[in-house]
Amino acid sequence: AVERTLSIVKPDAVAKNVIGKIYSRFEDAGLRIVAARMVQLSRPEAEGFYAVHKERPFFNDLVEFMISGPVMVQVLEGENAIAKNRELMGATDPKKAEKGTIRADFADSIDANAVHGSDAPETAAVEIAYFFPSMQICVR
Ligand code: CMP
Repeated sequence: AVERTLSIVKPDAVAKNVIGKIYSRFEDAGLRIVAARMVQLSRPEAEGFYAVHKERPFFNDLVEFMISGPVMVQVLEGENAIAKNRELMGATDPKKAEKGTIRADFADSIDANAVHGSDAPETAAVEIAYFFPSMQICVR
């Protein structure tokens, strides 16, 4: 089925100037960018986005990292978009990510891991709504 998923190019990848290279991975895999914006997240915004991880030991480092610089946030649309994007990203820990994945090629550590992608339809819906009102998503 055609799905939408939320993708974030994290501060490490924005700083490395590889937004376009990462976008090409999405496009080459048949995913369309149907909404996008660059944003410097505030601490409360980052904490809210990652609220499901609040009790995890890495939460504070994660938030600190996500507010360390601007991020590029986009909605990707396409057949099986959620799983497809996760395949393109590779494992959360870049050391474990398969060759040729975004994280294997552009990420440095489990925190500075270049990209985020929704992990399921329910989280995709919540995460998309967190950043984009429905009228800012272009039907394509
Ligand atoms: P992301 O997909 O954005 O979702 C939560 C983030 O927490 C994850 O990518 C990692 O960057 C970060 N993180 C740090 N440590 C861990 C860990 N042990 N397990 C999962 N995620 C972690």
